Amino acid sequence: MYSTMFFNANNAMRTSLLRLLIFPIACYATLYNSFEDITPTSFDFVIVGGGTAGCVLANRLSENANVSVLLLEAGPSNADVFDSIIPMLPSLLNPNTLYDWNYSTTPQTGFNGRSIQYPRGHMLGGSSSVNYMAYTVASFEDWNRYARLSGDDGWSWSSIQKYIARNEDWTPPADGHNTSGQYNPAYHSSQGITSVSLPGFAHDFDSLIIATTAEKPRRFPFNLDMNDGRPLGLGWIQTTIKGGQRSSSATSYLGGDFASRENLHIVVNTRVTRLFHNGLHKVSPIFRTVEFTQSETGPRTNVTATKEVILSAGAVGTPQILLLSGIGDQEALTALGINTIVDNPSVGHNLSDHPVLPNVWYVNSTATFDDLSRNSTFAAAEVASWAKTQQGMLVDSPLAHLVWARVPDGSYSIPDPSAGPLTGQYEMLFSNGWLGATQAPPTGYFMTISTAVTAPSSRGNLTLSTSNPFDQPNINPNLLGTDFDLFVMKEAVRAARDFVTAEAWESYVVREFETLAAATTPATLEQYIRKNSGTIFHPVGTASMSPKGARYGVVDPDLLVKGVSGLRIADASILPLVPSAHTQVPVYIVGERAASLVKSAHGLD
Ligand SMILES: Cc1cc2nc3c(=O)[nH]c(=O)nc-3n(C[C@H](O)[C@H](O)[C@H](O)COP(=O)(O)OP(=O)(O)OC[C@H]3O[C@@H](n4cnc5c(N)ncnc54)[C@H](O)[C@@H]3O)c2cc1C
Ligand SMILES: *[C@@H]1O[C@H](CO)[C@@H](O)[C@H](O)[C@H]1NC(C)=O
Ligand SMILES: *[C@@H]1O[C@H](CO)[C@@H](O)[C@H](O)[C@H]1NC(C)=O
Ligand SMILES: *[C@@H]1O[C@H](CO)[C@@H](O)[C@H](O)[C@H]1NC(C)=O
Ligand SMILES: *[C@@H]1O[C@H](CO)[C@@H](O)[C@H](O)[C@H]1NC(C)=O
Ligand SMILES: *[C@@H]1O[C@H](CO)[C@@H](O)[C@H](O)[C@H]1NC(C)=O
Ligand SMILES: *[C@@H]1O[C@H](CO)[C@@H](O)[C@H](O)[C@H]1NC(C)=O
Ligand SMILES: *[C@@H]1O[C@H](CO)[C@@H](O)[C@H](O)[C@H]1NC(C)=O
Ligand SMILES: *[C@@H]1O[C@H](CO)[C@@H](O)[C@H](O)[C@H]1NC(C)=O
Repeated sequence: MYSTMFFNANNAMRTSLLRLLIFPIACYATLYNSFEDITPTSFDFVIVGGGTAGCVLANRLSENANVSVLLLEAGPSNADVFDSIIPMLPSLLNPNTLYDWNYSTTPQTGFNGRSIQYPRGHMLGGSSSVNYMAYTVASFEDWNRYARLSGDDGWSWSSIQKYIARNEDWTPPADGHNTSGQYNPAYHSSQGITSVSLPGFAHDFDSLIIATTAEKPRRFPFNLDMNDGRPLGLGWIQTTIKGGQRSSSATSYLGGDFASRENLHIVVNTRVTRLFHNGLHKVSPIFRTVEFTQSETGPRTNVTATKEVILSAGAVGTPQILLLSGIGDQEALTALGINTIVDNPSVGHNLSDHPVLPNVWYVNSTATFDDLSRNSTFAAAEVASWAKTQQGMLVDSPLAHLVWARVPDGSYSIPDPSAGPLTGQYEMLFSNGWLGATQAPPTGYFMTISTAVTAPSSRGNLTLSTSNPFDQPNINPNLLGTDFDLFVMKEAVRAARDFVTAEAWESYVVREFETLAAATTPATLEQYIRKNSGTIFHPVGTASMSPKGARYGVVDPDLLVKGVSGLRIADASILPLVPSAHTQVPVYIVGERAASLVKSAHGLD
């Protein structure tokens, strides 16, 4: 749980940053704070949610100057939000800040009944403006399974390569070091829009991590490139960063000249409250009217798309809006006084997410990022150097190398919930410092190996708590909700402990942090896991795609909402199962493919 995390929002740091900042500031010619400021009142497409996928759609659909696009975003603009620009500081963005939705979950059975914070980006760029920037495309088996589950080969590994190419702009690291041996150029594109690079600051533990792959090659084989479709093993992390600054869907797909397109209208601070249907197409209600407001008590306004409405409000926002609009389980809607337009019990169900656990060791080094949060002299010097030269430890995500791994074959009795034998069941994430659920202790230097269950068998759900769009829905990711998921987490902790027994770590790792050190028996290990795990922020599946004509699912494989007309969904909610990967790249792929599907449906390509 990287939630309450490790950097205190440090005012001294922010002030020095403002003073030292020298690079040009983003600006949007077509960004409005209110719908009333816009001249046109008719739009071909209305996109709900200016997040990761929403910005992709806004860009791609407005490529044709004859097409008018309205993008509605609940949160503020990303421009000039320094906490979002500096890669090392995502913890300044969530939870419970101006840029977060401030959600928390229902009590989680797998966490001894704890309810946890559930961050989601509340600003232009959505969660890509607040996330940890890990760039992972998932395994070829994950994508081929999406093709199988949706009955559409357009979602297969080979079919989605063109969308990766359109999204990815491979970029040198901030420090310009020689990256030979750290990735495989054959699997990367420099023709896309969102920047991706290797880390741009060398850490003491880098060579020890790589040395461990040589010492323990069976369990931790070196993987030159985890984004070649076969992620198993240990490799260098790739992140959505360029020149020491975050590359989000807002800075990339709405960056540069894109945002000044006259046919693109971006309105921030505007929350969509529900959709209305207006007429029938054959027997299907046509959902092309969007109701929105700038505050809970403020007036509501309608806007109607002439071609389509595209919901990109994310895995929480999208099912919430569908339910508020009468698309969902009739019994549950009736109980809240909402008139059912389409009875579909799948809306909000089959949520899946990754539980994560920070495991911490004391290290024999002072060159970690721990002092950033507790020594303002040190922090100010780092900020100054970043602002002046775009160098230093702030240029990277707090995440370093990643491992994708599996538990031993035959060690469990349920059908393998992962997409196949070349797909990870768990992940290990290295950080050169304390990345725990609380702030770093005042003394000591640390290394964190977070462990995550990446092919969970648990399924959760999301339901409305009331019919008020300003009330948060009940979010139940059901983390560690099955014995299998707990078993995999135990194996992952064992693997992390095994990792640091390599000789490479002899003079570096001192001992386990107290909470981990106390987990010495199966029972105490289980309690340690249940007490300290959280979410790695990857919910999907709440508006799942399924084959055309299936009796479950929310969208067809072309992302059109079942049982209605004029409405499509493009965001994390359509993925039927969580991939064994961090979810932003899959969402970029969904955004790119959705744009392509919309264009062909309307003869715009
Ligand atoms: C803290 C954090 C760290 C993460 N780290 C990583 C990582 O390192 N690597 C990775 O690959 N993935 C990471 N993820 C996950 C990844 O960022 C998300 O899966 C992905 O960005 C989701 O994209 P989306 O388009 O579905 O939703 P979002 O990007 O969340 O976009 C939804 C947008 O809709 C807006 N919205 C919602 N409701 C409404 C409404 N009613 N009206 C108007 N607008 C609305 C929201 O404000 C938001 O801008 C992380 C996520 C978080 C939150
Ligand atoms: C835009 O519309 C005009 C007039 O109908 C047409 O001549 C032009 O080719 C169109 N442009 C594109 C990119 O479709
Ligand atoms: C989340 O909480 C912060 C801090 O209290 C607040 O500023 C922000 O407006 C809240 N976000 C939303 C979406 O209400
Ligand atoms: C980068 O390193 C590789 C391998 O050590 C070497 O072959 C190559 O020439 C180097 N490239 C540059 C530009 O120095
Ligand atoms: C929005 O449209 C709906 C459905 O047509 C209608 O009932 C509602 O009154 C409209 N709201 C406004 C503010 O015009
Ligand atoms: C959840 O997904 C499974 C397929 O994985 C499907 O059989 C089931 O009907 C779905 N449940 C709901 C409520 O949609
Ligand atoms: C804080 O950092 C500065 C600059 O790196 C260093 O000189 C100082 O000793 C540090 N203070 C403490 C208490 O560690
Ligand atoms: C949501 O999931 C939980 C955990 O699996 C289950 O107990 C609960 O009944 C589900 N809620 C609904 C409405 O299906
Ligand atoms: C810490 O590292 C130094 C060298 O940097 C070494 O001399 C010392 O023995 C190490 N301490 C421990 C406890 O391993």
